[in-house]
Parts: sequence; structure tokens; C-alpha cells
Amino acid sequence: MKKIIVTGGAGYIGSHTVVELYKSGFTPIIIDNLCNSSIKNIEGISKVLRQEIKWHNVDCTNQKSIDLVFEKEKNIEGVIHFAAYKSVEESVKEPQKYHENNIGSLEVILESMRKNNVKNIIFSSSCTVYGSPDILPVTEDTPFKKAESPYGETKQLCEKLLEKDSCNSISLRYFNPIGSHSSSLIGDCSTDKPTNLVPILTEVAIGKREQITVFGYDYNTPDGSCIRDYIHVVDLANSHVKALNYLIENSGKHAFNVGTGIGISVLEAIQSFEQANNLKINYKVGERRDGDIEQIFSDGTQIKEKLNWEANQTLKQAMIDAWNWEKTK
Ligand SMILES: NC(=O)c1ccc[n+]([C@@H]2O[C@H](COP(=O)([O-])OP(=O)(O)OC[C@H]3O[C@@H](n4cnc5c(N)ncnc54)[C@H](O)[C@@H]3O)[C@@H](O)[C@H]2O)c1
Repeated sequence: MKKIIVTGGAGYIGSHTVVELYKSGFTPIIIDNLCNSSIKNIEGISKVLRQEIKWHNVDCTNQKSIDLVFEKEKNIEGVIHFAAYKSVEESVKEPQKYHENNIGSLEVILESMRKNNVKNIIFSSSCTVYGSPDILPVTEDTPFKKAESPYGETKQLCEKLLEKDSCNSISLRYFNPIGSHSSSLIGDCSTDKPTNLVPILTEVAIGKREQITVFGYDYNTPDGSCIRDYIHVVDLANSHVKALNYLIENSGKHAFNVGTGIGISVLEAIQSFEQANNLKINYKVGERRDGDIEQIFSDGTQIKEKLNWEANQTLKQAMIDAWNWEKTK
């Protein structure tokens, strides 16, 4: 059983990936200081798998502590580095905090990898690295534009750091992860105030918010609202397993988009949520919001060809799972 360090393994995407790694025969080892998650996800992982997963409650920016974990665990095959802050809005207010944690943690992990001769790392990147693209769908060769936020900038800088390092790496550029594990035992426990569409929809549905505003009605899209590429978090988790297997066989530097390739407008997403869950959402259409790009969706040719991965869960299923998580969390 190959040992894989999963930083941020108690988080939203990390917890789902830990489950899929274990089911695929890897031994995941979590490093997470719960700065933006909850013990509930650690417990949820054990319930889903009927198996305790090793967890180190350690800060990834602390070199000494991370070195100790690597020394203690020994024979680590690879690392999946999720640990980071992820709120675009907060990053605008506190850019330094984002640079220190997001770039600082990667520097520390790479240093521990060097010291312990660990070669392979999968990095959680984001489609934000592309900024506002000129041509759609975006391929991995689409040039990076100026980042729209300090958060996006940290992802661009981390990818550059990986390019320069001697490690083997895959940057996975996620589009918009939504939904939850079908058990509703793990999910998004972050303390960030949601600014993404689906978590806001579930909050409106349960009554935590009165209404959702659709930002913008006059974009150059068929219905005037923004377009995104929503991917079920379990599909996303599985892409990490495929990426790891690929990297173990194919050294070097790689980057892949992880999306469905299907652009869905905000209004379509609201309708899909309503239909999937048989309820009505109170929404209004308002002015554009600063920092939102008009549309983005992925070209998934590379990841299909090289990793043999493609999304297979439906938008409807993701909406059902998102709503079930809201009701039980
Ligand atoms: N959720 C998205 O929409 C999305 C989209 C693109 C990329 N990403 C990236 O994917 C990764 C995971 O995102 P997520 O949605 O699961 O976020 P999350 O906040 O749920 O998970 C991140 C986890 O990392 C932990 N963490 C953060 N800093 C740490 C540190 N210094 N030491 C130890 N643990 C630390 C947090 O406690 C949390 O459990 C992040 O790098 C994020 O930027 C997320």
C-alpha cells in the first residue's frame, strides 16, 4: 500500500480524495490543522471507510513539524497538496495572509520532500490561473493572464515554484467543484462565508438566507448570466487518484484541467437545483459583481487522453448531493 501525504485532507476536496485514495488501494495520511475545516470531516471519513485514517494536526507552514511528519512516516510515495486558503474575497482584503499560507505551505512541503527523497506531488491549482480567457474552452496551453485576485496570484506563483523545483509534479486546475459524498458524511466544513453559487443556493433553500442575487443579466451569453463549468467533487477526487498513478509512471512536469467541459449559466444552475430537489429558489437579478469573469469552461482533451479521466456524475446528482449535505451538516 503506497503512502500518500494529503495536506488539507480534512477539507472539502481533500476529504473526498482521501476516501477515493483509500478505496483505490493507497494509504492516505492526512496533515491538516483544521484552520478552515472541522473534525467532523475526519470522523466522516472513518465512517465512510469503516477505517481510521492517520491524521497529523500540524501547520503546513511549520518546517520543523512537517519535517517530523515526513521522518516519522518514512517511505512516502507522494504528496497531494490541498492545504491553502481559498476565499477570493478574503484574499483581496488580506493578500499577505494568502501569500504566507498558500505559497509558504508549498515551499515547506517541497523542502521536506527534498530532505526525505519524496519525488511526486499533485498540486491543487485552479482555473483562476487563466484569468479571463479570450478563447473558450480553455486548454492547458491557454496563457496565464494577470490574476483577478491575490488568491489567483498564489496559484500562479505556486505553479511557477513547481516548475523550478526538481520534483515530479502535476498541477490540477479545478473548475467549479460542487456537491458532496452521497453519504452526506463529509462535505464543505469551511468557515468562509460562501460566495460560490451552489452553497448560496443551499443556504437560501434551507432559510439561512432570504434570497440569492444573480450578478449580471447583460453578459454576452445566451441568457445574459455568467457561465461556469461545475464538477461533482467525487469526480474531482477521482482525478487525483488517476493523476497519482500517472505521475508514478511518468516523471516530469504536467498540468491538467479538471472540469466537465460543459458551460452552465447561473440561471440554468438555479433551474437545475430547483428541478433536482423539487423546490423553488427565491432569486433576483442584479448588477454585475466586481471580479466576475463572463464565462469559463474547460477543454478536457488532455486529461482524457493522458489520465483516462472524465467526469461521469450529472449536474442533477451534484445538486441533490449539495442539498443533502446542507440538510445534514
Ligand atoms: N473549492 C473550490 O472551489 C476550489 C477551486 C479551485 C481550487 N481549489 C483549491 O483546492 C484546495 C482545497 O480546497 P477546498 O475547497 O477543499 O478548501 P478547504 O478550505 O475545504 O480545505 C483546505 C484544508 O486545508 C487546511 N489548511 C489550510 N491551511 C493549512 C495549513 N497551513 N496547515 C494545515 N492545514 C491547512 C484547512 O484546514 C482545510 O481543511 C485549495 O488549495 C483550494 O485553493 C478549490
